[in-house]
Amino acid sequence: MQNVNTIYQDVNRPIAERVDDLLSQMTLAEKIGQMTQAEKDSIPPEDVKTYFIGSVLSGGGGVPDPNTPANWREMVKAYIKASTETRLGIPAIYGVDAVHGHNNVAGATIFPHNIGLGASRDTDLIYRTAQATARTILATNSHWNFSPAVSVPQDLRWGRTYEGYSEDTDIVTEMSQAYLEGLLNPDLGDVKMLGCAKHFVGDGGTTWGSTKIPKWTLLGNWQVNEDVFQIDQGDTQIDEDELRRVHLTPYITAIAGGVRSVMVSHSMWNGVKMHAHKYMITDVLKGEMGFTGFVVSDWMSINQIDEDYYVCVVKAVNAGVDMNMVPYDYKLFIETLTKAVQNGDVSQDRIDDAVRRILTVKFELGLFEQPFIDESYLSYLGSDEHRALAREGAQKTATLLKNEDVALPLNNTQSVLVAGQAADDIGLACGGWTISWQGSAGAITTGTTLLDGIRQHSDNVVYSVDGNADTKADVGVVVIAEIPYAEGEGDCADLNITDEQKQLIKTARANCDKLVLVIYSGRPLIIEDVVADCDAVIAGWLPGSEASALADNLFGVVPFTAKLSYTWIDSMEQLPRKNNGSAKWQIGHGLTL
Ligand code: BGC
Ligand code: BGC
Repeated sequence: MQNVNTIYQDVNRPIAERVDDLLSQMTLAEKIGQMTQAEKDSIPPEDVKTYFIGSVLSGGGGVPDPNTPANWREMVKAYIKASTETRLGIPAIYGVDAVHGHNNVAGATIFPHNIGLGASRDTDLIYRTAQATARTILATNSHWNFSPAVSVPQDLRWGRTYEGYSEDTDIVTEMSQAYLEGLLNPDLGDVKMLGCAKHFVGDGGTTWGSTKIPKWTLLGNWQVNEDVFQIDQGDTQIDEDELRRVHLTPYITAIAGGVRSVMVSHSMWNGVKMHAHKYMITDVLKGEMGFTGFVVSDWMSINQIDEDYYVCVVKAVNAGVDMNMVPYDYKLFIETLTKAVQNGDVSQDRIDDAVRRILTVKFELGLFEQPFIDESYLSYLGSDEHRALAREGAQKTATLLKNEDVALPLNNTQSVLVAGQAADDIGLACGGWTISWQGSAGAITTGTTLLDGIRQHSDNVVYSVDGNADTKADVGVVVIAEIPYAEGEGDCADLNITDEQKQLIKTARANCDKLVLVIYSGRPLIIEDVVADCDAVIAGWLPGSEASALADNLFGVVPFTAKLSYTWIDSMEQLPRKNNGSAKWQIGHGLTL
């Protein structure tokens, strides 16, 4: 470091003074660098130094090789170290999607997805889950979680339904608030964590069939399947009153609760890309709502604004985007924004405002004083304490929809036929955003399955993947699951369970006296054709890596307490949400046992 005033390094001065001092010494290149976020697979640490990069992220599946907690820590530290070696030594901040635990890290505990947490209605559970997650994120030296999603999904066909706590705004507001509190209180000395409310705004309100991912963004590295994306990133076609009432409300509470970053939605509102929506980002969020943290764009989303990249950059930054998630093309972004400032299309004031916001948050987090975090916290990853918490989570999220003829609880004198691949599959119980972006079936990480749990309660268990068995069992436990998905890859036109799943249930039915159906899914699925064959039905949602814990519910050791946070539809005609009034299991339904 040379020729640098060090007022900004003085921890005893007010943050505003430190920011002013630092800002006054920064070149345009240093400022634009702060506004740039690149993805770790695209950027070497040296470039963080050369381009003064403000932030690096791991996208879904952005893992080190081999994928271990210690390697994560080294990977993240290398970027931060490079940033501290710049002239002004402004530390980079590393962001991750730890949306149900630190879910990209192999061996980390995977907690239930938000849809299950919403059904638990248990704000204390959610607080502790978020706190545990924060500790693991910090242990890998990352300070920023792109979470909580405060989405209020209105159409179950959306591939991100499970990221939302509920279809009801009040439930989302309350649950996301508890999550945020836990996330911001890791209780690890002075170390702090940055949360991110997303996706601003109306991401959960898009209309089926309205997605238009522009052709030009499908070039390059962005390989989304445009035929599959039907509602994710689509258009929210509602008036301002409804937008505010249904979708904006959780942000008000999140801001009051200390959220310091907000991520813009890939979607549109009445035809206008949110990333270009100056009224909502600058006038409403930063103005009316008084948000003084910084706004981050979503993955390559500024590229969608216009075919001309220059227009994209100008419109997004002028709309109020401060930190730009430009995963691959950070050099092009820097070059383009530099040109735009030189041409007067983006003002110096806008640049200073963006950088001031970013630096303020970095000072608040204590990044300058403590860019590197104690290695000993690595022991939190996959710890017994976290696994116990995930067990509790799985048990408190499981929702008992039906229980006739005292099918439940089971007892250990009964013979049990367990059926379905999902009964013994960790990946299917975890869902999307687990180890990879989309998630996948199989033993993708450390954990236990429902079959393991049932075997702990009973010696009289037969496991059959397809439901066939030589002798008739007293009770059958059939587990079906959605194939894991994330984002628009999970948009789905038909939520009926598959013919294969129906066949599995019918086969098992013939081989047991009573049948218990357990469903692992990111949203309610239509089971009308088989529901009469099932004596009990449990929505397990996406319980995570400790699914064996559900056996305690089945055997009556712990109670079922969860209540639906989405109405469970019985036909596709009941979509979107405003049509679901006739469904038999309404939001709030859930038997206690
Ligand atoms: C990344 C994800 C990101 C997605 C956006 C993927 O390649 O891994 O993190 O959300 O792209 O489409
Ligand atoms: C998703 C965000 C996520 C980001 C980074 C985007 O595609 O929409 O939710 O935080 O990628 O992975």
